[in-house]
Amino acid sequence: MKKIAIFTSGGDAPGMNAHIRAVVRTCLNHKIEPIGIYGGYEGMMNGNFTSLNRAFTANLISQGGTVLKTSRSKVFKSAEGREKAYKNLQKFQVDGVIACGGDGTFHGANLLYEEFGVNIVGTPGTIDNDLFGTQYTIGYDTAINTAVEAIDKIRDTADSHGRVFIIEVMGRHAGHIAMDVGISTGAEYVIVPEREIDIDGLYKKIKSMGEHIRTIVIMGEGGMLGGANELSDKLEQIFGLESKSTILGHIQRGGSPSVKDRVLASHLGLAAVEALINGKTNVMVGRVHNEITYTQLPETWEKKKNINDYLYKLSEQLA
Ligand code: F6P
Repeated sequence: MKKIAIFTSGGDAPGMNAHIRAVVRTCLNHKIEPIGIYGGYEGMMNGNFTSLNRAFTANLISQGGTVLKTSRSKVFKSAEGREKAYKNLQKFQVDGVIACGGDGTFHGANLLYEEFGVNIVGTPGTIDNDLFGTQYTIGYDTAINTAVEAIDKIRDTADSHGRVFIIEVMGRHAGHIAMDVGISTGAEYVIVPEREIDIDGLYKKIKSMGEHIRTIVIMGEGGMLGGANELSDKLEQIFGLESKSTILGHIQRGGSPSVKDRVLASHLGLAAVEALINGKTNVMVGRVHNEITYTQLPETWEKKKNINDYLYKLSEQLA
């Protein structure tokens, strides 16, 4: 391996920069030239490649977002787009690629491997924590901490006014963020997209709290009923119940990464470079109970990373 390229793709996640730093430094330690591809798959197709050095990584560890930028590319989904990207990998004589992102990024990486035999490993960079094969994804810990901090503030108002708040958190189709945030904010009710909403059960729970008592409902996006606004409207229409809805939104993706995310991103950066050196390809490099794991890329999205049944019980019993 003489040149290893890294790019970030899909939604940015706190810790991606710490990951880039780890990849660059590990490459340099192995006398490999690190290449940065700017703008995810868009940059790969447009030939936006730059040689990176140690100075580039200074101060990166604490920065949110991704210094290599990111995109959700439609063009890369076409065969022509991917061929263009592959030609650039050849042109810049890239021997191995590290794709940091979520399942969309891994779908693309898997195609580069299958169609052109590109040596490519994925690293889990998404706040959603929805990839099978790794206990946590880079960005998840920071995102849940950000959400908890914001919800603790909403709680003050909910408490002072004795209001019902429906708070929507991110996660796309996965409820990991909602569940952990719900448990750690002591929410009265947690709704995840993996389970149908029991709107009668929710109403009963709210009513059981008594009149004008602070009630926090955490709702993961991506469920059948829509989001917090829709649920709040439904509660009004069906039961005449007044509630406030808040969508936390992209605040959850920003900010300086937590210690856990910096450590995870660093481990995975080193492990990803070594995986390529050791001939591994088309796998995601993850971490489970402090051990580095390798999971075939298609398995990361085909197998479901379920929310542990125990967590449902915990959130209900302590509500
Ligand atoms: O995958 C990360 C994520 O933040 C999801 O939780 C969310 O559904 C989605 O990205 C939002 O994407 P965008 O920033 O492109 O609107």
